Amino acid sequence: MATTAKRPAPNPLRAGLRVGGASVPTVFVIYGASGDLSQRKLLPAIYNLAVRGLLPNRFAVIGYARSDMDNESFREFARAAVEKFSRTPVDDHLWQAFAQLLHYQSGSFDEEGFRVLGDRLEAIDAGHGTGGNRVYYLSTPASFFPVIVQAMGATRLNRPPGVARVVIEKPFGHDLVSARELADVVHRSFRENQIYRIDHYLGKETVQNIFAFRFANAIFEPVWNNTHVDHVQITVGESIGVEHRAAFYEETGVVRDIVQNHLLQVFSLVAMEPPAAFDADPIRDEKAKLLRATKPMTLENAVRGQYGDGYVAGEQAAAYLDEPNVPPDSNTPTYIAARLEIGNWRWAGTPFYIRAGKRLAKRVTEVAVQFKRPPHLPFPVDAVEQLEPNALVLRIQPDEGISLRFGAKSPTPTLALRTVNMDFLYGSAFLAEVPEAYETLILDAVRGDGTLFTRQDSVERSWEIVDPLLEQWRKGAPQVYPAGSWGPDLADELLSRDGRRWRRP
Ligand code: BG6
Repeated sequence: MATTAKRPAPNPLRAGLRVGGASVPTVFVIYGASGDLSQRKLLPAIYNLAVRGLLPNRFAVIGYARSDMDNESFREFARAAVEKFSRTPVDDHLWQAFAQLLHYQSGSFDEEGFRVLGDRLEAIDAGHGTGGNRVYYLSTPASFFPVIVQAMGATRLNRPPGVARVVIEKPFGHDLVSARELADVVHRSFRENQIYRIDHYLGKETVQNIFAFRFANAIFEPVWNNTHVDHVQITVGESIGVEHRAAFYEETGVVRDIVQNHLLQVFSLVAMEPPAAFDADPIRDEKAKLLRATKPMTLENAVRGQYGDGYVAGEQAAAYLDEPNVPPDSNTPTYIAARLEIGNWRWAGTPFYIRAGKRLAKRVTEVAVQFKRPPHLPFPVDAVEQLEPNALVLRIQPDEGISLRFGAKSPTPTLALRTVNMDFLYGSAFLAEVPEAYETLILDAVRGDGTLFTRQDSVERSWEIVDPLLEQWRKGAPQVYPAGSWGPDLADELLSRDGRRWRRP
């Protein structure tokens, strides 16, 4: 009897899904193309967009940096980067066509260099039919942002025959004053709707899902407030250390690297009011309103740490002070725990505890919403002594998903209640790999959709929230915590004085 091969049943969750690609012809310019971000994230993301068939039919990339390369060597560089960092393997056939889209121009970030770049762009437009539309991606150290934008204005790269957009990496400034100065410089060459301030956390599917979870369901929003929520914990934990980025990290530290941007963005999505529509301005208006209601951080409500040596996942890890290029007396914090307070009707009295750090026990980003205990428990005391309050955990990464913790009767003759979890896992529900955040955001920049990018008012307010703490932290020193732990003891005290404790993710 002939056997028919069994085909997996189609996943009903994927029925009717449409992934809209970009259609407007575009040249994508990467400033700092030979750097770390370009190698690890941008080139692999562009390649994966090509694999998914989402790039415009007429599309080209030009890398611009000081490194001495030509088209050929840039293509080799890009291939090595994609081989090492792409989430999908390189397909030889596709690569041949893809490589033809890649170009390179070496030069400095000044007017002389940008005039040459302008000529190259015209030649690429003629060769690829890209019609003078450009997305300029600033993937350089932040100190070059004003220099590049100014030189682009002086050489009219900001006024190509088609549409121009500029994507600017974080951090946007290093405090409120410098963020305003940078905005002034950028606004001299670009209008606000041409500026895409990127925060890659907003491109993560699970971060976008916070929005869907809250506003596409009727059952959670009624309890999403200070009447029902005891407190919220947001954790951005990394197991890696500072790696080879000491020069960058010494200038940023954990507050400028993670809190001012990634963490406050996640926080504002969790706490904001429902917007009228899923469009750039209504969403950005609500986020800005929430950040305005958030009280600036203070010394009393925050603790800082710096990793000492220790073991992470069984491997020995060096102390921050022993990392290459870190000055031996550095006070740069690699960890923060803080209590944020929101002064509005929904959240007054419900604290949001945040923590972020490098060289922690594991890599995990999650939002845990802990609900209040029931007002009365009609059970014997010993039946409920192990019962934990309800919690809803949004797992941003890894093991992307959501779990709801609640009490259940254990199947025993004596009455005992235990805490159990109900889990949703992205991978098994949608049977699809989650795309990288940079794929989503690069595609949006090419399509001209600014919804997932940050507006200047939120950037400025985020600096206003962290600046007082940064100022106070100029003095004193962080508490050392062992690499591979969950941070310094002071972080536990911060919660225990409120009668609470950190979750073990
Ligand atoms: C970057 C920070 O913005 O985000 C890094 O500069 C950090 O220090 C990284 O490691 C974390 O991103 P992800 O996507 O791995 O959580």
